[in-house]
Amino acid sequence: MRRLLAIESSCDETSAAVVAEDRSVLSNVVATQHELHQDYGGVVPEIASRAHVGRILHVIERALADAECNLKDMCAIAVTSQPGLVGSLLVGMTAAKTLAMSCNIPLVTVNHIDAHIYACGMGRASTVFPCVGFVVSGGHTNLYDCSSPTSYKMFAGTTDDAAGEAFDKVARILNLPYPGGPSIAEAALKGDPKAYDLPRPMMRSDKRHFSFSGLKTAVLYAARGVPGPQQLADTPAECVADLAASFQQAVVDVLVFKCRNAIKELGYNRLCVGGGVAANSVFRQQIADMCQKHGVELMIAPLELCTDNAAMAAIAWEYLELGQTADLNADVLPGLIRTGRK
Ligand code: KG4
Ligand code: ZN
Repeated sequence: MRRLLAIESSCDETSAAVVAEDRSVLSNVVATQHELHQDYGGVVPEIASRAHVGRILHVIERALADAECNLKDMCAIAVTSQPGLVGSLLVGMTAAKTLAMSCNIPLVTVNHIDAHIYACGMGRASTVFPCVGFVVSGGHTNLYDCSSPTSYKMFAGTTDDAAGEAFDKVARILNLPYPGGPSIAEAALKGDPKAYDLPRPMMRSDKRHFSFSGLKTAVLYAARGVPGPQQLADTPAECVADLAASFQQAVVDVLVFKCRNAIKELGYNRLCVGGGVAANSVFRQQIADMCQKHGVELMIAPLELCTDNAAMAAIAWEYLELGQTADLNADVLPGLIRTGRK
């Protein structure tokens, strides 16, 4: 069976995978950089790109070894070309172009957001399209009308912070480690989600888009008081678990509500959810409950394919089948996709 090598380096994970034509994942190596960004509470682009340079060849070699094959067994090289951090994207793109040129095989460029949605269908016998696609990650909180694997139309996005970004920033407020999603989820286990009455931003059916910056500020004020001489410099430790649980519940309420709205408006009865925040267990439970209640089929990415990884670049097979390969002078497109909000 034909195989391709996929490379992902759009943010702070250096990843390579070998994926067969039937979309089975033969290997998927992910080198995270969390420890490098820990002190800054978020990704530092220059540190991220330098770390990709140092790791990418080892990660590719490991992916080939784990799949028990070598470069001459590959029929194409797939790479994330957009969106992401420019330096990070360039490292993956340069490696991919070099391999495609030296092996004389096609290069296929992949959109990272499309790949997050595609991950929902991997390992399933039947197609997941058409569907409402939802990418909820550190960089995006986007809903799409997905009529096919290669045709996604934006339905809604965030007007400020992405959901994962809000988790990361609130973790800083609560003195919890980066990345904020997993550390808030863990702290929340010991907290009461009703302890603080936090806002649920834009939770009205006439508002398609998301906004999380006001919620983040509400957590800051609840933790330390409003700005002024009385404001605390640090969050008192005894508030952390309750604030983490209350914040997590507010985000989940908004995410679930917006998905329900999009399903109603777009008229599909299938929802595909991917991205790092889709790994959150409270979200997974509550989105599943909503889908069950309304007879909607839920396809949520398996945990290992929620956060960034190269296996989801298996979407490249769809482009290969359409003959849509890239030139060796293809460029990266770092910019965020605009939400198109009114
Ligand atoms: O998809 P991803 O790996 O990278 C981007 O494309 O952005 O998502 C990373 C984001 C981070 O903001 C991280 O805090 C969040 O996903 N995340 C979570 C969880 N695991 C990761 N958020 C909430 N709960 C989690 N369990
Ligand atoms: Zn991602």
